[in-house]
Amino acid sequence: MTSSPTLETRSFSVNGRAVTVHVPEDTTLLSALRHDLDLKGTRVGCTEGYCGACTVLVDGRPVQSCNTPLWSVDGKTITTVEGLARGDVLGPVQEAFLLEQAAQCGYCTNGIIMTVTGLLSQNPPATKHEIVEVLDERHICRCGAQTRILKAIDRAIATIGGAAR
Ligand code: FES
Ligand code: FES
Repeated sequence: MTSSPTLETRSFSVNGRAVTVHVPEDTTLLSALRHDLDLKGTRVGCTEGYCGACTVLVDGRPVQSCNTPLWSVDGKTITTVEGLARGDVLGPVQEAFLLEQAAQCGYCTNGIIMTVTGLLSQNPPATKHEIVEVLDERHICRCGAQTRILKAIDRAIATIGGAAR
């Protein structure tokens, strides 16, 4: 007979809501978001920290949730793609990606939107050059939507601020 794993209690905030989950010690943030909290907007890609599809914001900073242990976000503030819109009004980066049709299959899109949102929300906001460097390092788009993604970043910078260089 196998014994069930010991569960640990983790409390944090997701999209403005305080949550508590009871999970095995090795649970990742990605797993808790998708399976315990039913927030499926955060994608499962490589699960090894290469593709960026699973990116969310932790205290405003873009983080790959697949290799972030849940214990490390205890007490912190998480934002997922579901938390960017206000009712029917999309967040400005979401809106920019929509208007530029900056997706093909869309699998990479949510993670990229979270990274761009985080970088443009910091003070001072990231420049386009800084954003592109981070995307190059931490995100993969296999569909070749990069040109439209760059246009969406320009549009988001024009709306939110940041330097278009
Ligand atoms: S699923 Fe997390 S980086 Fe690929
Ligand atoms: S739009 Fe398909 S992976 Fe980027």
